Amino acid sequence: MNFLLVYSMFCTIIIIVLFMQINHINNKLKVIGKLVDEVRSGNFNVRFHLLPTMNRHIAGTSRKLNELMVYLQEMNERRAFLEEERKKMISNISHDLRTPLTSVMGYLEEILSGSVKSEKEKMEYVKVTYQKSIRLHSLLESFFELSKIEAQDIKVELKEVELVSLAEECILSFYHDFTRENLKVEINLPRDPVVVLGDRKSLERILYNLFSNALRYGKDGGVIGLTMTESGDEVTLEVWDRGQGIRKQDMPYIFRRLYTGDRSRNTMHKGSGLGLTITRKLVELNQGSIEVSSIPFEKTTFRVVLRKFVRNN
Ligand SMILES: Nc1ncnc2c1ncn2[C@@H]1O[C@H](COP(=O)(O)OP(=O)(O)OP(=O)(O)O)[C@@H](O)[C@H]1O
Ligand SMILES: [Mg+2]
Repeated sequence: MNFLLVYSMFCTIIIIVLFMQINHINNKLKVIGKLVDEVRSGNFNVRFHLLPTMNRHIAGTSRKLNELMVYLQEMNERRAFLEEERKKMISNISHDLRTPLTSVMGYLEEILSGSVKSEKEKMEYVKVTYQKSIRLHSLLESFFELSKIEAQDIKVELKEVELVSLAEECILSFYHDFTRENLKVEINLPRDPVVVLGDRKSLERILYNLFSNALRYGKDGGVIGLTMTESGDEVTLEVWDRGQGIRKQDMPYIFRRLYTGDRSRNTMHKGSGLGLTITRKLVELNQGSIEVSSIPFEKTTFRVVLRKFVRNN
């Protein structure tokens, strides 16, 4: 009799404990349901409160869900940031494209309206229109190139590239510009071939962009230089000039898309501010790094570090 009583009490206690457990789990599932609703409505800032009295498994799951929330929140913030950047970029692009296009249309209208009488003046207008069209074309090309890189739509095949001859070829392609601007060129390259791991086309583009900048912004200094040095399994390329340089306050931004420094200083040789963005992305695709240092009218150096090619035997 006693045994039956104890047994039934024991069963009742078990049933009560089980019931409490199920109730507890039900409540937690309700909380999870509410949390999912919050997330669905775009609020990632909700978390489970972890209590010391919590069931071990529920606490573990809650912790994991909290981690997922943190991850989702970070992703959401990143997405919002990228969306903001995209909007800014589109607005900048439209502005940068509209400016030359408006002046091309303006000049052509003047010619067509017959208000430009002399042939000499007409020729001048056509010349300006042509220059503006070239600028428009190069802007579009740069935007296209950058968007291709960002969409990972370019083929970068890293293999052995001999860098000394590549650098020499690049300098040679600027020969006429350097002589036209009366620029001295100081070249310091290793005597022996230097083989890096890289993509030939993008390495050419990197050097081309850096030389274009040195020519455009550094010609006042009268000299442009290229130095290549080897150290361990790295190769360092330095493109330098002694021109007006980059002001301290511009330094953090020059690799940013569309950044052209103090625009008023650059109206004479205004670029689109995409060259260095493309350059940095290409350097990264070649598993290298790029940095800049500048002391105005003393030395402005763009330093690219690449990895040497190592043959795996
Ligand atoms: N060697 C340099 N000396 C001084 N300023 C420089 C030099 N190289 C770059 N800069 C500054 O950095 C800015 C960004 O350069 P970047 O090459 O990205 O654009 P850009 O030359 O203006 O246009 P583009 O897209 O045609 O290259 C330039 O506008 C210029 O102000
Ligand atoms: Mg440039």
